Amino acid sequence: MSVTECPGGPLLVRGAVRLVGEDGQPVPVRRRTIALCRCGASQLLPMCDGTHRALRPRPEVEDKDDE
Ligand code: FES
Repeated sequence: MSVTECPGGPLLVRGAVRLVGEDGQPVPVRRRTIALCRCGASQLLPMCDGTHRALRPRPEVEDKDDE
């Protein structure tokens, strides 16, 4: 098993893993790679649903009038 941190996003867990929810019940894992939410905003917790992308601060756009 390996765990990879995605900057600003989930933890990617690759390989066989047994996932247990906060209620102590097993969470079905159907894929070899799963993405675990770290932002807490996913509607599919504990899995990432991509919501973190909407939370990420957008890069500032340079104002061309400043040149
Ligand atoms: S890390 Fe992707 S929704 Fe939370």
